[in-house]
Amino acid sequence: MRNLLYSVSALGMFGAGIGIAMAGVESVPTPQALWQEIQVLQKNQAIMPESSPFQAGSRTVDAFTIDLANAAAVQSISQAGGIIHVSRYKNDSLLVKENFNKNRKPTGVTAMLKLAGYDAADRNWVMAAYKPDGTMVSFGKIGSCIACHTMVQKQDFVFAPPPQQLLSIRTWKAFFPKQEMNPAYVSLLKEHPEAVVK
Ligand code: HEC
Repeated sequence: MRNLLYSVSALGMFGAGIGIAMAGVESVPTPQALWQEIQVLQKNQAIMPESSPFQAGSRTVDAFTIDLANAAAVQSISQAGGIIHVSRYKNDSLLVKENFNKNRKPTGVTAMLKLAGYDAADRNWVMAAYKPDGTMVSFGKIGSCIACHTMVQKQDFVFAPPPQQLLSIRTWKAFFPKQEMNPAYVSLLKEHPEAVVK
């Protein structure tokens, strides 16, 4: 991530690293450059701590999910002793959720990238959504993503994967009224009522 960010920085020959540290602001990668970083995590099967490949997602559009994390995010989690204990992710942390339908066909990819100075009011996350082929769907300070992820503001906007933390059917329906719930997730809600984030 560092190389990518520095290579697109406007600071040129003066040594981007130092320049960025002084300014406290990192350049925003293009949606395509971020997609390249996501593909590296996919290729390396960089599974997010505490998650497992093809875990249950909440709705039929994400019946199965794979969470990925880069080194900065993994370090943040291990230093804090778990996702629910992280109060601030390191800059350049990248988290990804790949979504699959019940036939394990890819339906989309979401990502969040922490950039120094990007959006201080919302903890500096660049939010992004892509089609499975990398076509950008939305990118930047996406209000709907932030409105939900702020439910775990204490964890710097990052949810622990199911069944550690779950959202109620009511919450999902408020954001995605037309989407069907995944029956496996509904079962998790019944088994783990204490896991519902309030
Ligand atoms: C209604 C609530 C809700 C909305 C809206 C939402 N998310 Fe999430 N998101 C979640 C929950 C809950 C998880 C944890 C599930 C998991 O880890 O598989 C999650 C997981 C993620 C993850 C993996 C890291 C983590 O927090 O566990 C990323 C990345 C992500 N979402 C990005 C986005 C982006 C980008 C958008 C907007 C395009 C978005 N989300 C919209 C609830 C939401």
